[in-house]
Amino acid sequence: MNERRTRYPGPISEAADHPHTLVDQGFAEDAVLATVLDRYPAELFDINLYDYDEAGQVSLRTGARGRLSGEALLEAIKQGRLWVNLRSVETGWPELWAAAMDEFRQIQATYPGLRAVRNAGQLILSSPKARVPYHFDAAGVVLFHMRGRKRIYVYPGDERRLPERSMEQVVARQTTEELPYDLAFEREAQIIDLEPGRALTWPLYAPHRVENLDRFCVSLSMDFQTWPSRFRNGALFTNAVLRSRGGRPRCTDAMGTPELAARWAASLALKRAGLLKSRIAHFERDFEPQVGAADGAGEIRA
Ligand SMILES: [Fe+2]
Repeated sequence: MNERRTRYPGPISEAADHPHTLVDQGFAEDAVLATVLDRYPAELFDINLYDYDEAGQVSLRTGARGRLSGEALLEAIKQGRLWVNLRSVETGWPELWAAAMDEFRQIQATYPGLRAVRNAGQLILSSPKARVPYHFDAAGVVLFHMRGRKRIYVYPGDERRLPERSMEQVVARQTTEELPYDLAFEREAQIIDLEPGRALTWPLYAPHRVENLDRFCVSLSMDFQTWPSRFRNGALFTNAVLRSRGGRPRCTDAMGTPELAARWAASLALKRAGLLKSRIAHFERDFEPQVGAADGAGEIRA
């Protein structure tokens, strides 16, 4: 591992934080959040409850949106142990999205050569003790932190901690985003405590995990694709298809741009042909948020 902390190309060589003004603009206040929760489309909610064993291995329960008012849902998150993700902020809360894109352009300008071609956002509201398991995103990420405190652990993007086989499975939607995790990885973690008004970014694909530091947290997680990340994701998808048919494709980090681009082009045709079906199950929901219930997770009501 060199000092870039990743084998993947791109101008972001290590985790670094930047200032932003989304808190000052009032996007993280209770009354504003309650109103947004009231009107946000139920199908854009992910509600997760994570448990960990002593080896750091995670198990997941998932929640349905349920019928709580925005104000009550906010209270359930503050009291419980929930991780609530509102997808597609670009359509669900356009005012926040416009402000965040202004901030993104300023951060992007500090990395010569970084050119996002597509951005998307998730608003994350999470309980004081919530923890997000070890995973990677097949994209660049800027995490705009707005309330509470979070400790982010970022790990080197090498084959041991980010196996290409696992990346293929994630990109081809054969599994959710979790990677194999080993407590020994902690020795190589870059650890950053994130305060409101700071935005963290890290090398594309770098594995990471998050711990809330005893306070209700609000963050906007913005992911973005560049042409190099698109090519690589396409190549990983094509490799997943080849492997599912008994092939033994080369690692993408042994490929130059023309080969990555050719495999990306192949992936478009493979996706159109629908050869590799997503295996991500439609989860049965385990609970509904409830104020006063253990972990904030109440019974599912019919
Ligand atoms: Fe992530």
